[in-house]
Amino acid sequence: MVTGATSGIGRAAARMFAARGDQVVLVGRRAEQLEALRAELVHGDRRALAMPADLADTAQAEEIIARTVESCGRIDILVNNAAFGLQSRFEEMTLETAARMFAVNVLSCMALARAAIPVMRRQGSGSIVNVASVGGLVAHPLNVAYCATKHALIGFSKSLRLELKGSGIRVVVVCPGATRTEFFERASADIPFAPMIERFARPPEVVARAIVKASRSRRALVFPTLDAWFLYFVDRWLPWLSEAGNLRYRDTVIRMAGAACGSQPVDASKTE
Ligand SMILES: NC(=O)c1ccc[n+]([C@@H]2O[C@H](COP(=O)([O-])OP(=O)(O)OC[C@H]3O[C@@H](n4cnc5c(N)ncnc54)[C@H](OP(=O)(O)O)[C@@H]3O)[C@@H](O)[C@H]2O)c1
Repeated sequence: MVTGATSGIGRAAARMFAARGDQVVLVGRRAEQLEALRAELVHGDRRALAMPADLADTAQAEEIIARTVESCGRIDILVNNAAFGLQSRFEEMTLETAARMFAVNVLSCMALARAAIPVMRRQGSGSIVNVASVGGLVAHPLNVAYCATKHALIGFSKSLRLELKGSGIRVVVVCPGATRTEFFERASADIPFAPMIERFARPPEVVARAIVKASRSRRALVFPTLDAWFLYFVDRWLPWLSEAGNLRYRDTVIRMAGAACGSQPVDASKTE
């Protein structure tokens, strides 16, 4: 099962799982995109299922997992990938937006994992791959709530991994750096990202490949690219350099945003 399969990293990962012969269950809100991908991935006796759902409503998780098991008989890999971010000054973001971000980026992953674990325990095996971000390890200004959700997701994943050790269920967290997807368009509702981010962004297939590999990995953290690992490494061992880089980024972006920065509170509906 891949959440956030309607675009970017999730769509690329679903294609890769299907290409190696897996049955895939696709979750996201945009039903048309899900159906188009489902039709693309069905081939011979290889099946694919589309399950349109708004993951902000965490109550749906039990039903999504139950329908998957009913249809496929088991669930081997759960990829919690759906998420959104929003570039803004923290004090200009409404608490409703921050709460929705936590619901989609963290609580939905917890709810789906919680529903999938009993199934995986019965099978004696399974992998839960949570897609976080370098922003879940390194602090970034103007992305405060998003970074908080990804820090929470990493804490959840590492703790759950220890709790499930020996059960046959793996928990891995993938930490991508900048990736060329719709994420930036959606997240730039109020303040644009600095052009350098898009310049360094890697194609979604690079992260998708790491997700497929991570589903068999025993490691706790996986970095799909060297630059993602490098940002983490610098933050850990040269924190003053990481801070200087982040402050420079903040000042560049605020200068670019100019007068646009400092007006209305940010509304989640603008990004969705
Ligand atoms: N792009 C980057 O630079 C980058 C860097 C680090 C980490 N990541 C992480 O990578 C993952 C994938 O992001 P992406 O870059 O592929 O961005 P994307 O193209 O915007 O994809 C996000 C996916 O999440 C789904 N989604 C968002 N809100 C949802 C909701 N309420 N319910 C169900 N699905 C929802 C979207 O589908 P619908 O809109 O159809 O619902 C979409 O399929 C995310 O966890 C993101 O935090 C991205």
